[in-house]
Amino acid sequence: MPTLTIQPSGATTEVAPGTSLLAAILAAGEKLASKCGGEAKCGACHLFVLEGRKSLSRTSGVENEKLDSIVGVGSKSRLACQAKMGEENVTVELLSFV
Ligand code: FES
Repeated sequence: MPTLTIQPSGATTEVAPGTSLLAAILAAGEKLASKCGGEAKCGACHLFVLEGRKSLSRTSGVENEKLDSIVGVGSKSRLACQAKMGEENVTVELLSFV
């Protein structure tokens, strides 16, 4: 199974493909806000994908729309509740400003 590395703590966890990053991060014991129940509505689960971005599920229209409304969004941004693990290792960075 591919490995998810979570910065800044450096925690790692094996994640089954198809699992959302949000579920994997919470299962690893890390904290990540999710105020809308994972429906791409709150933006609280915004994070940066440092490695393995291409292996994640594609960004949907609804995710793009929400990302457009968040301050601090960059080319590495994803919503953890929408991005699902693929077959390759991924490194994400949790953000403190959301
Ligand atoms: S949990 Fe609300 S946008 Fe992801």
